[in-house]
Amino acid sequence: MIFQNINSMKNPKNIVIFVSGNGSNMSNLISHFESNPDINVEAVFSNKKDCLGVINAQKAGVNTIAFSKKELEEGNVTELVDLLNVDLIILAGFLLKIPGEFTSRFENEIVNVHPSLLPKFGGKGMYGKHVHKAVIEAEETKSGITFHYVNEHYDEGNIIEQFECEVKPTDTWKDLQVKIQQLEHEHFPMVIEKLLAQ
Ligand code: GAR
Repeated sequence: MIFQNINSMKNPKNIVIFVSGNGSNMSNLISHFESNPDINVEAVFSNKKDCLGVINAQKAGVNTIAFSKKELEEGNVTELVDLLNVDLIILAGFLLKIPGEFTSRFENEIVNVHPSLLPKFGGKGMYGKHVHKAVIEAEETKSGITFHYVNEHYDEGNIIEQFECEVKPTDTWKDLQVKIQQLEHEHFPMVIEKLLAQ
């Protein structure tokens, strides 16, 4: 008996999603993977127990796990994720810094979406509307999204894929936010499927 790649025989693949706010990407991923028997959304993790993301995950019948910043920093979240036999950890609008102990335990297994073309407009304090406002202020003619692995530094892990959109001179940060979220919803499920198929 020869098993060449035992991991490829494990079906379905398990993912967990980390959110801190609205969770529109999370909801999009949950509904996309409902029709994919190869990918199971095992749980949604959040540092905000009452955020819309958590409420919608519960409505969709997905397990939710709320934790504090302290629990994340003390390693309790790492231990729990470890127990769940997870293939990929997805950060979809998760705003706390992931501790080095967590990123080194799950090297190349944590994927984040960032709403700019990194390395531009990344780093501490650069999230959500702050990114879009900075892009508009800098009079950029294009922006986009970056899928990247997560390491112990904000937005500095290896880039997986980027997708661009045009920024018109008349665009407000809210217009840009809409374009960026559309791009995220369009590409996020496929990026995850590709990574899990490797
Ligand atoms: C997304 O646009 C995501 O790129 C951004 O937060 C938004 C969450 O939206 N993430 C960051 O800025 C991380 N630095 P959602 O909660 O509706 O999915």
